[in-house]
Amino acid sequence: MTTLADLDTPAALLDEPRMNRAIARMQQRMDTLGVALRPHVKTAKCVEVARRQREAGARGITVSTLKEASEFFAAGFDDITYAIGLAPHRIGAALDLVRRGCRLKVVVDSLAAASALAAATRRGDTGAASGVSAAARADAGGRLDVLVEIDTDGHRAGISPEAPLLLEVGTVLHAAGLLAGVLTHCGASYGCRSAATLEAMAEQERSRCVRAAERLRAAGLPCPIVSVGSTPTALFARALPGVTEVRAGVYVFYDLVMAGLGVCAPDDIALSVLTTVIGHQPDKGWVLTDGGWMAMSRDRGTQAQPEDQGYGLVCDEAGAVLEGWIVNQANQEHGIVEHRGGAKAGADVQGRFPIGTRLRVLPNHACATAAQHQGYAVVDGAAVKARWPRFSGW
Ligand SMILES: Cc1ncc(COP(=O)(O)O)c(C=O)c1O
Repeated sequence: MTTLADLDTPAALLDEPRMNRAIARMQQRMDTLGVALRPHVKTAKCVEVARRQREAGARGITVSTLKEASEFFAAGFDDITYAIGLAPHRIGAALDLVRRGCRLKVVVDSLAAASALAAATRRGDTGAASGVSAAARADAGGRLDVLVEIDTDGHRAGISPEAPLLLEVGTVLHAAGLLAGVLTHCGASYGCRSAATLEAMAEQERSRCVRAAERLRAAGLPCPIVSVGSTPTALFARALPGVTEVRAGVYVFYDLVMAGLGVCAPDDIALSVLTTVIGHQPDKGWVLTDGGWMAMSRDRGTQAQPEDQGYGLVCDEAGAVLEGWIVNQANQEHGIVEHRGGAKAGADVQGRFPIGTRLRVLPNHACATAAQHQGYAVVDGAAVKARWPRFSGW
């Protein structure tokens, strides 16, 4: 049996029981709310993880790159939403996936993007290797649907639910037979500081997106899909009338940002980085490890939260949180572990963490930390049960 002791460090560890609990929790919550779950697979970018989400009841997946779309499609996932505004130069690649049988949904939030897509599908564009006629799409079982991105929080992209532009974009898409619904992501939920504000943000995300759908319908335009979601709003939503699906992503691993929001506890976090102690600066209370920012990422997502976790929260090799110990500084390949209370609180670092000691570090932002690694060592206790690869690139 392979164990943690056999792994080189730094290594991304995926705690399988924790991940399974997270998948079950989100699926149960969505089942209770009566909506489909379409997980955002950009967190893990791993077929094995997505398979477990599907086995638990997820319907379709969300991706953040066409590379993910293509890799997951090759692995048997054929209902895919690419939830980043579609750039004109990617239309050919998107249509190529459709031609090969993928039920792809793409997102636009401008007249320019909607018109480019409408024109390309009318032409049966040859942006990719081969042309895409409606007949060829039907033969292959593929279908291109377009969702209009709605801005429900002023956080990033999207059209305001009340804007005249919504109906203009909807009309252009419908004329080309492409309009399938609306989509929003309330990223501002990450800035909430209490359960009450998270609940209110979830309701804002829902009500504004549903409002956009109602406006399209009132104008005689079809809007079967109403897609919302982030992990915090998914878990804090009280009810989701009018919503057809929720896209949550980071819940599959959770992370310290989610723990800081009260979405999970630190010991729910399924992703950690295994590191080795390589040195000390006893007078400064420093423990040096081989887990720098290349292993953790540069993400400092907890910096703005009440409890700043530095570059990560330190646990022992078995995954138990070592209260007060964080990766306070990070160079490329060095992590500097310190006690929050400074050198005094962190006395006798050599005795406490001898050279060669292995520590696990919980990440601020699971998507960013996972992206630093080529795959996961899947662990259950000290046993390494499998190695799962992940995708990267675009
Ligand atoms: C468009 C979109 N949908 C869904 C999600 C999932 O959000 P979370 O990772 O908070 O679950 C994201 C995350 O960035 C997103 O950008």
